[in-house]
Amino acid sequence: MSIYLFVTTIATVFISEFLIMVLLDNAKKNEIISSEMFLNFADSFILVLLLYPVLYFFVFKPLLVQITERKRIAEELKEKTVLLQDFNESLKSMVKEETTKHRQKEQMLMQQSKMASMGEMIGLIAHQWKQPLNAVTLNVQDFKEAYIHGELDDKYISETVDSTMRQIEFMAKTIDDFRNFFIPSKRKVKFDVKSAIEELLSMFIHIYHRHDVDVTLTVQPDTLLLTEGYPNEFKQVVLNIMNNSKDAIKSRRNSDISISGVIEINIANNEDKSKVIISLKDYGGGIADDVIDNIFEPYFTTKGTEGTGIGLYMSKTIIETNMGGSLTVHNVDGGAEFVISLAAMET
Ligand SMILES: Nc1ncnc2c1ncn2[C@@H]1O[C@H](COP(=O)(O)OP(=O)(O)OP(=O)(O)O)[C@@H](O)[C@H]1O
Ligand SMILES: [Mg+2]
Repeated sequence: MSIYLFVTTIATVFISEFLIMVLLDNAKKNEIISSEMFLNFADSFILVLLLYPVLYFFVFKPLLVQITERKRIAEELKEKTVLLQDFNESLKSMVKEETTKHRQKEQMLMQQSKMASMGEMIGLIAHQWKQPLNAVTLNVQDFKEAYIHGELDDKYISETVDSTMRQIEFMAKTIDDFRNFFIPSKRKVKFDVKSAIEELLSMFIHIYHRHDVDVTLTVQPDTLLLTEGYPNEFKQVVLNIMNNSKDAIKSRRNSDISISGVIEINIANNEDKSKVIISLKDYGGGIADDVIDNIFEPYFTTKGTEGTGIGLYMSKTIIETNMGGSLTVHNVDGGAEFVISLAAMET
């Protein structure tokens, strides 16, 4: 403050002096005043002293106040910017934390929904293993018989070993298929939706057959089948939708035994071939109008303790949030139709 006062005082004196000298000079030149009147610096200095308070109070002081005020505002702004930056940072870390929590919750839900089908899974593996296990047993028994009857030659041994190995490989593949099905896909890959559905059906069709439900898969001619995303999660979605259809068919059969036990899967492209559209239709009676808008909500179920209500919520998240597609539903004649739409890819 004092330095400002000093500088402004000096500046006022010199500027006043300068102004007066210029004014006097002009006045002399124009003969407004005689040259004898203010001859030197000392004379003009008296005028400066008179002018100084006026300049100081009306020009420099307000200027000084303004400068101080601006400096204060700048300081305040700086402080507020720092505060805002801190706030921004904490907001960022809060968002990050919440996103992580949300992701963990979703993974937990997904795990939960997978665990639900774990029991069925063991049954399926047992089913898939039954035939090759029988074949291996027969091979071993035959082997013993052949030895007893002296029929063990190179050809016999090699054929039996090959056949047994094929059965064992099939059994190992079954285990791998189920294990892989539970491993979340790590990154987006291009995959063929038809092959994915076929793989899924080869693993799970027995569950449906056991409940007298058949699944048909139709692919329209010249359909682009490639899309980009997470194949395991995609299979999980199709399985969720098929499970719901199976439940609807079963419950409708309680009142009407003649209900068609078919789930129709159809794969096509849209008109400009930019999308792969997978529709899954059943004849389970459809979804009641008063709940159809809620079925994608987490924990919404009409199955009481039998359902967790996360199947469709997870499915929608996978298709829409993770794979950029859409999953919709509408009622059709006698049932419900779920439609998955994903971006179609050229090879
Ligand atoms: N094909 C369908 N036909 C009739 N209703 C359906 C069909 N698909 C879904 N729904 C309805 O949507 C609800 C929510 O389905 P969702 O798969 O999210 O949960 P859920 O099947 O009840 O339980 P879970 O989490 O064990 O699958 C179901 O309870 C059912 O009322
Ligand atoms: Mg379900």
